[in-house]
Amino acid sequence: MRSLTLTAPAKINLLLHIAGDRPDGFHELVMVMQSIDLADTVTVAERREAGIGLTCDRPNVPTDASNLAWKAAELMQKRFPDDAKKHGGIAIDLQKRIPMGAGLAGGSADCAAVLVGIDLLWDLGLTQVELQGLAAELGSDISFCVAGGTALCTGRGEIIDPLPELDSLYAVLAKYQDLPVPTPWAYKTYRSEFGPTYPATATELDRRLEQLRTGAMMSAIVRGDAAAIGAGLHNDLEKVVLPHYPKIQQLRDAFAQTDSLGVMMSGSGSTVFALAQSLEQAGAIALAMQNKFSDPTLEFWVTKFCHSGVQLVNE
Ligand code: C5P
Repeated sequence: MRSLTLTAPAKINLLLHIAGDRPDGFHELVMVMQSIDLADTVTVAERREAGIGLTCDRPNVPTDASNLAWKAAELMQKRFPDDAKKHGGIAIDLQKRIPMGAGLAGGSADCAAVLVGIDLLWDLGLTQVELQGLAAELGSDISFCVAGGTALCTGRGEIIDPLPELDSLYAVLAKYQDLPVPTPWAYKTYRSEFGPTYPATATELDRRLEQLRTGAMMSAIVRGDAAAIGAGLHNDLEKVVLPHYPKIQQLRDAFAQTDSLGVMMSGSGSTVFALAQSLEQAGAIALAMQNKFSDPTLEFWVTKFCHSGVQLVNE
């Protein structure tokens, strides 16, 4: 029975602009996503019994069909029925390091790893574009998690354009263990508050998208200008999440008093991060934050940007 182990990195958002509404009920986004070296380990293996089995080292992670990793295996079995018959069932094991409800795409990263793992396990030879197409059927962030690195993500988030690598930067993350932010709530609240300001016509939306795609952050990344990247961090969802979650606002304020390149909430939260140019600077930021907060449920990570998404570790 073959078994593959993959690493599934988390992401942070350097940019998250909500450009307007989409006919499918989602939002039209312009984001820059960045992989970091905080990663889950995902094992995908053949098993004699048909169907899917899922195990996880964290008791609060669902190990049934509601988990995106399970959904990825289900989609592959449905899309490639002959290969599924030939290889038998699929056993998935998740060793979690990425926190949940954190805006770090932990569930999406595991899902991407299962897609890539089954492609390799069944020798399907799918291209990146094909894998990203399957990923997009399961969620908006999963295509990025397949590709990883630094990328401009548009549409629902599933259209990926690679950007120059930024792998010399660091991010210090902070998150309260018991403080998840539900992503659908964040977008719904944003729509109810800012819907009236969304572009009213397709032409207006196109104009807005073009402005956002060519903004200051994009040129900062192309120049590799760390200070400008830090200054250009932006996340529209902060406008609704921070007023509802004072603890996240407090974390952001505390980070802003440290010596960093910039501070931002990732995705729909609840993780807040500070950018640093070196490991020394990142370590000093983490220490300053740890000295300010004595709450044992507040966790910190010093992470480095990385240039890839899901990677095979061993077979
Ligand atoms: O696609 P995903 O499952 O990650 O999306 C989670 C939720 O976030 C969606 O149900 C939707 O409410 C919101 N969302 C959105 N527009 C996007 C992506 C996500 O409104 N482009």
